[in-house]
Amino acid sequence: SSDLRLKVHCFFFLCVAVQSIETVTALYGETIVIPCNNGAPPPRDLMFTKWKYEKDDGTPGDLLIKQVQKSEAMVQATDDYAQRVSIAANSSLLISHGSLKDQRIFTCMVVSASNLLEFPVNVSVQKQPSPPEIMDKAKVLNKDKLTMVGTCVVKDANPTAEVTWTKNALPLAADGKAVVVIRSVRVDPATGLSTTSSTLQYTATKNDINANFTCKSTHLLAVQETTPESFSIHYPSEKVSLQILPRQPLMEGDNVTLKCHADGNPPPSSFFFHIMGQKLLVENSDTYTLTAVSRASTGEYKCSLVDNEEMEDSQSIVVNYLDLSLTPTGMVVKTVGDTLVVEPQMDASGDPKVSWTKDGKVTKAPAFGPLTYADAGVYVCEVTMTGFTRRQSFELVVEGGPVITGLTKHRADDGKHKVLICEAEGVPEPSFQWSINGTDEEISYHNGKATHKITVTPRANLSVSCIVTNKLGEDFKTINVSSADVSHAVCPAGSQEDAQDQATLIVGVVVGLLIAAGLVGLIYWLYMRNSRQGSWKTGEKEVGTSEESKKLEENNHNV
Ligand SMILES: *[C@@H]1O[C@H](CO)[C@@H](O)[C@H](O)[C@H]1NC(C)=O
Ligand SMILES: *[C@@H]1O[C@H](CO)[C@@H](O)[C@H](O)[C@H]1NC(C)=O
Ligand SMILES: *[C@@H]1O[C@H](CO)[C@@H](O)[C@H](O)[C@H]1NC(C)=O
Ligand SMILES: *[C@@H]1O[C@H](CO)[C@@H](O)[C@H](O)[C@H]1NC(C)=O
Ligand SMILES: *[C@@H]1O[C@H](CO)[C@@H](O)[C@H](O)[C@H]1NC(C)=O
Ligand SMILES: *[C@@H]1O[C@H](CO)[C@@H](O)[C@H](O)[C@H]1NC(C)=O
Ligand SMILES: *[C@@H]1O[C@H](CO)[C@@H](O)[C@H](O)[C@H]1NC(C)=O
Repeated sequence: SSDLRLKVHCFFFLCVAVQSIETVTALYGETIVIPCNNGAPPPRDLMFTKWKYEKDDGTPGDLLIKQVQKSEAMVQATDDYAQRVSIAANSSLLISHGSLKDQRIFTCMVVSASNLLEFPVNVSVQKQPSPPEIMDKAKVLNKDKLTMVGTCVVKDANPTAEVTWTKNALPLAADGKAVVVIRSVRVDPATGLSTTSSTLQYTATKNDINANFTCKSTHLLAVQETTPESFSIHYPSEKVSLQILPRQPLMEGDNVTLKCHADGNPPPSSFFFHIMGQKLLVENSDTYTLTAVSRASTGEYKCSLVDNEEMEDSQSIVVNYLDLSLTPTGMVVKTVGDTLVVEPQMDASGDPKVSWTKDGKVTKAPAFGPLTYADAGVYVCEVTMTGFTRRQSFELVVEGGPVITGLTKHRADDGKHKVLICEAEGVPEPSFQWSINGTDEEISYHNGKATHKITVTPRANLSVSCIVTNKLGEDFKTINVSSADVSHAVCPAGSQEDAQDQATLIVGVVVGLLIAAGLVGLIYWLYMRNSRQGSWKTGEKEVGTSEESKKLEENNHNV
């Protein structure tokens, strides 16, 4: 009869339960906790609590029973549940290692002295899938070509996870043409968990360079996403360009590099270079170097793709040239009075500018008359065109036998010696010889002009010779030096005039006085005449008398 009551109750309860059956959600692999009567406290006259379940065929199966008097529950189950069930103090049923097979209805039976209540609970077990993973990932994507990007796999979920793809964080919608997504779900027969796979095929454009692709798994328990993935996009070249390095203008002798660039990805590794009508294959490089180009290298150069020769570019190369030949060059030795013709010859692709320097100073183009010592020097001819420069030079040496240009004497500062100065011109540097022994020799030689200075003490009236010599000849000059000037001289130092001997001096003084007297007379006469005529011309007086007045002055000094 207890069975009948139970059925009635059961039937009655099920009628109610159809509308409001409790569902408990548990996690796969963990302990399922199924509360009895929503955790409500049991009746005071509780005798026992019993848990049972609904088998796959709909028949009930016993799990356990817990009597109030006994501390331990009695496990009634004989199947797999025997090891896994237990009861909590609050009457909840605990099932360890929850799996999808536990998704069924468990019923808590509360039996008291006065009543028997049943509380069925629907159990649902969920499992979060493993993080999404992209398999068979593409290495590159091809522009305008449907390419498999990869297969995203989301493993072991319950319920089944949704797998979607995103590009730059936006969902990628399959259109069956440019974007094709093939989805499949496989359920593990042992666990009942489902694995979702999604294969993406994608037609890339150039805009997809650096685009971030992700695979996203959406599940009740979690939304998971792969780390963004970028793919390099391959596309053919649409433009080829040829570059000439260095930039023009080019000069003969330059090394010129032709650099071919194609805008495809990956860039081509080989090119054809068309050099002087010849097609050359260059592999694993995009450059071709012409070493030391010449004017003959001027022309059109081309490069093209090996796999598509119509993709090409060409550039003209103009090689400038600037030749300078100078006659003469090097060391040129000429004799004074010779002539020298200087001829710079130029051959240039443009209009060169010519400039000259002599001994480092700017000068005009040398055009020599009879050569002089002053013409000697280092001449540099420089021609310049579009930043390029050529330089040639010669060194002109003008030689000549020595010629004495001056032989002078003057009294030394101490008044006791005489200083003799012999000046000569000549190249190479002449050597000096004197017919008298001197001291305090001083020599200078500059620009072909030599000066030799000696100090002597003449013991007698002497005729002193200066002799100059170089490999081209010699010259000499003589000067009279009197001993008297030195020993009796009382003149102030620094007088440039050679002192006259005493006899000449006396004669000079007498003559001077006579001339002075005559002059006074003349002036008086002129004055008288002019005052009578009423005109006076100072110019007339000075002309012809300056010589005399000068001598007079000197003599006054000497006395
Ligand atoms: C009953 O006890 C179990 C185990 O101690 C606990 O997990 C559960 O939350 C409790 N239920 C209620 C409704 O208190
Ligand atoms: C039990 O729960 C599952 C999943 O929530 C549901 O599909 C099923 O219909 C429920 N069963 C009953 C009898 O309510
Ligand atoms: C892709 O992601 C990287 C870093 O993850 C970011 O720097 C880049 O801007 C993203 N590209 C695009 C097109 O959003
Ligand atoms: C040109 O290249 C050669 C070797 O390739 C080198 O020896 C020479 O110095 C280069 N000339 C110039 C002007 O750079
Ligand atoms: C010059 O001096 C040298 C010795 O110092 C002597 O031999 C020579 O005779 C002298 N010559 C003259 C011209 O006095
Ligand atoms: C030098 O010559 C002068 C005349 O010019 C003469 O008077 C003098 O006596 C001479 N002296 C000697 C030492 O010969
Ligand atoms: C030097 O003296 C001699 C005689 O002693 C004379 O013949 C000659 O002309 C004089 N030379 C000069 C340059 O005065």
